Amino acid sequence: MCFTHNTMVKGVNDNGLGLKGRMVLLALFFIILRDGVYGKRNTASMEKDLEVERKLKLLNKPAVKSIRSKDGDIIDCVDIYKQPAFDHPLLKNHTIHMTPGRGLQRVTNKEKPSSTVEISQVWRKSGSCPKGTVPIRRAQKQVLLRTPSLEKYGRRISHFIYKPNTTKSDALDSTENPSEDHAVAVLLTQGYSYSGAQAVVNVWSTFVENDTEYSNVMIFLRNGPYYDFDAIEAGWGNNPSLYGDQRTRLTTYWTNDASKTTGCFDLLCPGFVQTSHDVALGSAIEPLSQHGGPQYAVTYSVTWDPDTDSWWLQLGDETVVGYWPSLIFSTMKNAATIVLWGGEVYSKKLGTPHTGTWMGSGSFSQDWFHGPCFMKEIRIRSNSLVWKYPEWVYTYQDQYNCYDAFNYVEGHSDPPFFFGGPGRNFKCP
Ligand SMILES: *[C@@H]1O[C@H](CO)[C@@H](O)[C@H](O)[C@H]1NC(C)=O
Ligand SMILES: *[C@@H]1O[C@H](CO)[C@@H](O)[C@H](O)[C@H]1NC(C)=O
Ligand SMILES: *[C@@H]1O[C@H](CO)[C@@H](O)[C@H](O)[C@H]1NC(C)=O
Repeated sequence: MCFTHNTMVKGVNDNGLGLKGRMVLLALFFIILRDGVYGKRNTASMEKDLEVERKLKLLNKPAVKSIRSKDGDIIDCVDIYKQPAFDHPLLKNHTIHMTPGRGLQRVTNKEKPSSTVEISQVWRKSGSCPKGTVPIRRAQKQVLLRTPSLEKYGRRISHFIYKPNTTKSDALDSTENPSEDHAVAVLLTQGYSYSGAQAVVNVWSTFVENDTEYSNVMIFLRNGPYYDFDAIEAGWGNNPSLYGDQRTRLTTYWTNDASKTTGCFDLLCPGFVQTSHDVALGSAIEPLSQHGGPQYAVTYSVTWDPDTDSWWLQLGDETVVGYWPSLIFSTMKNAATIVLWGGEVYSKKLGTPHTGTWMGSGSFSQDWFHGPCFMKEIRIRSNSLVWKYPEWVYTYQDQYNCYDAFNYVEGHSDPPFFFGGPGRNFKCP
């Protein structure tokens, strides 16, 4: 042993240990320290790494072609019959419907505001996917390494919960809202069956203060009890923990149990059947609206189609993205019972101090100078398959000093709905 060897060397020190001896001891100590601590950390990180690799293998399907987008995304063109939907136990033998039935007619409103232009996806500047494939945004390793739960990656941790008017006389009392980590400002309709919903939504860059938070602007269709509902959602959002950055992206969501165990954003779990070879869910979009400048908008519609027994997602007048087959839902088989249009912010900081995460454009609903986020041409499709402005609507906002909602009814036969806010401000400290 070194130690024995060194004691035999005639030392200058009282303890008989020479300088060289002490250095050897020190080195030994460092080696033990390194093996002990670093060794453990390496094993832990290797395990996490393996888990992440396994998850990535489930999420990312083999690509026919891959496109590296300038915004850092990789878009995989995946054989349409190898897309994630086919991992769903009820869709194993599914035959893809390439087009919706004839029953799916969208309202086309000729009089679009002149300043409203259709937006496009950033990745399409770098290439396109061949027919017979679907573009899928590749899940990224560095994002999954940071996610607190791989099992829940892609799924909402919680929903905002809307309790319809049942026992209490005032369902809009915000103390009744049990979703403490969500703030919403929405327009809402209920009381009938809705087999479709649409809106023209203007698109903004929105600020998210903490990477664990997100800010979405969506159309929400729901059916079932408030603690266990089915939902389909489509819109845009800024969701750093999901996508790894703060870009504004096309976003969809579904669940059949209020997200307890099912559902996800985009194609991050089996469920949505994509037919478009042109649209990648979760991809960044541009151009974005500017305060006091041009406004850019997307028309979203979600419609149940009897011929294919599915809920179809369309963007604009032309683009059919794909569908959610009715068989993946428990209650939302052919109709929703509630439709909401507007914004939501997810944050653990909705008390004081409040998060500074924005909703919509970051401006309040009547800040005409800066320009709020809006939804126009709001439509539902009734049982009789007629598209129309809902029979009655009301606005619902849980934190009107932080984010608010305004339905511009006065003087409008087709009222535009404005909503949003900056979060933390002098009224919302
Ligand atoms: C799919 O087809 C196979 C073979 O015909 C059958 O055994 C299975 O039950 C089917 N699965 C579903 C979910 O319909
Ligand atoms: C909710 O309750 C209030 C007060 O009773 C009533 O005015 C309102 O119409 C109800 N809304 C619905 C959706 O039933
Ligand atoms: C973000 O939020 C989490 C959870 O509330 C908190 O632990 C973390 O410190 C926050 N990060 C920053 C940079 O504020």
